Amino acid sequence: MGTLRVAVINGPNLNMLGVREPAIYGSETLAQIEANLKSVAAELDATVDFFQSNSEGDLVTQVQKLRGAADGALVNAGAYSHSSLALRDAFAAVSVPFVEVHLSNVHAREPERHRLVLAGAAIGVVCGLGSYGYEAALRGLVRNLRALK
Ligand code: DQA
Repeated sequence: MGTLRVAVINGPNLNMLGVREPAIYGSETLAQIEANLKSVAAELDATVDFFQSNSEGDLVTQVQKLRGAADGALVNAGAYSHSSLALRDAFAAVSVPFVEVHLSNVHAREPERHRLVLAGAAIGVVCGLGSYGYEAALRGLVRNLRALK
């Protein structure tokens, strides 16, 4: 089966975690989330490769690069989760299985956040569990990938 390569794609404003609305998003930084995911990945015989951008086009380009380079992905597209058909199309184009992650429970927030454009193409969605959602999503993704292979 071998070591699984997991890409972790974060969209706009997630570089601000730690200082950004901590009551909603918690106080952990993206670097702390990355450090935790690296140790969980090692336990699961996987590697994680982090990418963050505030720009939709750069996110699309990064997803295109996953073809043949990643076995699966975790995606928190930030506000683009609610609008970006381009990102959804990029995932469909590369056929890389992914789990969508949101720190907050978007369904308990403003109606504009209830529509998830990528989610229909995802294996699953984790939301509302804070930073632990990334770990839960990684464990779920790896289980899913190993069952398929
Ligand atoms: C978010 C939820 C989005 O609605 C918001 O725009 C974000 C973060 C989350 O992780 O809870 O930037 O994706």
